[in-house]
Amino acid sequence: MLNLNCYCAVLHYVNMRSIVNFDGRGGLVRILPGPEQHRSPDTAGGPVLVTSALTKRYGDLLALNNLDLRLNPGEIYGLLGPNGSGKSTALRMITGILAPTSGSVRAGGYDVWKQPEKAKALMGYIPDEPVLYEKLTALEFLDFVGELYSVPKGQRKQKIETILHMLDMEGRINDQIQSYSRGMRQKVAITAALLHEPPVLIMDEPVTALDPIAVRVFRGMLRQKTKSGGAVLLSTHILEIAQHLCDRVGILVGGELVDEGTPSELRARAGSSSAGASLEDLFISLAASPEYKDIISSLEADLT
Ligand SMILES: Nc1ncnc2c1ncn2[C@@H]1O[C@H](COP(=O)(O)OP(=O)(O)OP(=O)(O)O)[C@@H](O)[C@H]1O
Ligand SMILES: [Mg+2]
Repeated sequence: MLNLNCYCAVLHYVNMRSIVNFDGRGGLVRILPGPEQHRSPDTAGGPVLVTSALTKRYGDLLALNNLDLRLNPGEIYGLLGPNGSGKSTALRMITGILAPTSGSVRAGGYDVWKQPEKAKALMGYIPDEPVLYEKLTALEFLDFVGELYSVPKGQRKQKIETILHMLDMEGRINDQIQSYSRGMRQKVAITAALLHEPPVLIMDEPVTALDPIAVRVFRGMLRQKTKSGGAVLLSTHILEIAQHLCDRVGILVGGELVDEGTPSELRARAGSSSAGASLEDLFISLAASPEYKDIISSLEADLT
C-alpha cells in the first residue's frame, strides 16, 4: 500500500509525464517514444519554449499577468523576483502542472496543454519542493523515473550512477530517500530531471539547497546541456545567483515581467539615470543574504 508521500510522488511524476498508464498489475505501460526519439524539438533554430500572454488568477489575486517569454537553444534564462512574485506559478504552468487562466505555452512547437505528451517529453522539471518516494532508495526511485520517461533499461543504471557520482552521492544511493538531507533530495531531483536528457530543463530555485561544491558541479552540468543545444529556464530570488548562472534574466515583480536582458544590461540600467532608480531598489532587495554567501563565492571563483 502506498503511503501519502509515495502517492503524491506518483501523482507528481505521472502528471509531469501525463502519458504513462498503469497496467492494472502495478506495472507501467509506456505510450511514448524513448528519449532518443524526442531529442530534436521542432523549432528549426527558433525558441525552444515560448509563453504567450500566460496568466494565472487565484480569485482576486493576479499571480501572473500576460507573461511573454522566449527561451532560445543554448541559453540559460533566469526568472528573478522577490518572494510571491509569480516565479513558481509561471514554471508550474510552463511544465503543464498548473492550468493557466489564459495564455499558452509551446515547447518545441508543441502546445503544452493541447499536445501535452509531445511537449512534456521535451522537458525535465525540478520543482521547488521535490516530491520523492520516501521508502525507496535513490537508485530504485530513479529507476522508476527512468521507466516513466522510457530511458532504455540497459543504460539506466549507468546514467543514474554517473550523475549521482558527479553530485557526490554515490555512497548513499542504496539508502532510503527518507534518510536524506534537503540537499541530497535536491540532488536526486536533479538526477530525475536530467535522466531522459530533455532538451529543455525547467528548475525552480535549484541551487539554494546545494552546498558550494555541488553548485559548481551543477553549473557545469547546465553548461554542458546548453553547449549541446539544450536550454535551461530557472527561477531564483537571489540576484547574484541569476547573475552568475544565467545568460539572460527576466525580472518578475507582482506577477509582471518588468525588465529583461543580460545580467550586465540589467545592472547598467539599474545604475543609470532616474529610470533605473526603482530597479536599483529592487536589486538591493534581491541581493543575497549571508546564508548564500558561500554559494555566491563558489560561483564567483569558478569564473576565474
Ligand atoms: N494555490 C494558490 N492559491 C492562492 N494563491 C496562490 C496559490 N499559489 C500561489 N499563490 C499566490 O500567487 C502569488 C505568486 O506565488 P508564487 O509561488 O508563484 O511566488 P514565487 O515567486 O515562486 O515566490 P517564492 O520566491 O516565495 O517561491 C503569491 O501571492 C502566492 O500567495
Ligand atoms: Mg517559488
